Amino acid sequence: MQLNIFHNEEELIVALANYVVESAKQSIARNKKFSIVLSGGNSPKKLYALLASDLFREKIQWEHVYFFFGDERYVPSTDPESNYGMAKTVLFDPLHIQPSHIFPVDTKLNPQAAAQQYAEQISNYFAAEDWRFELVLLGLGDNAHTASLFPSTPVLLETVASVSSVFLEDKSVYRITMNAPLLNQAHRIAFLVYGESKAIAVQHVLEDAYNADLFPAQLIAPQSGELVWFLDTEAASKLQKKS
Ligand code: 6PG
Repeated sequence: MQLNIFHNEEELIVALANYVVESAKQSIARNKKFSIVLSGGNSPKKLYALLASDLFREKIQWEHVYFFFGDERYVPSTDPESNYGMAKTVLFDPLHIQPSHIFPVDTKLNPQAAAQQYAEQISNYFAAEDWRFELVLLGLGDNAHTASLFPSTPVLLETVASVSSVFLEDKSVYRITMNAPLLNQAHRIAFLVYGESKAIAVQHVLEDAYNADLFPAQLIAPQSGELVWFLDTEAASKLQKKS
């Protein structure tokens, strides 16, 4: 596991954008394609905007890139809460990504069917190969959830790589999420976490005794891939060990 701590969000985002570029270049050189799993929420918006900007857009052969979502809120794709909707606005539309290269969760189906259909989409993409994404981007909630792997939810106990629907009692909403076994099959996993509000969650996940039910992000441990944390000094401020 590699821990990168940056002075501020801007430096972090540039470093992570370069990491995405490098991951894409290596994957496209090797396999002629690059599968990336996007995280949702607010943190990655600036990363996606930077990748789509004049500074970075020419650095990746976007025609070889395939976009998936680590999780999705169970809302219409036009809803402001939609992770797909955010990525479409900030990344896909500015880069004119062809729809056949984008795999959104179909939230028009019921939650269980949406999860099953997403797993089928992943299966179709990988055909006879293992479901090993080239790069998974993850955020961290202030309660130490990642993707939609929330504390004390049944999905945390799953042992077979797949996609599940999760009902969040406190918010009375459904989420669709890749489970930890699927995320952990990836070649590379990068956490993007910045801001003071995440400092306690970061300390729990990285330094407290293993308790995945309480700190679900502790489930993230690539089977054979690399795990890299991209933090700013605020998010890392509660860590005892900085190296
Ligand atoms: C989501 C994300 C989720 C997110 C964290 C952090 O759908 O919300 O996948 O896991 O990464 O909740 O969200 P922020 O970046 O908005 O703090």
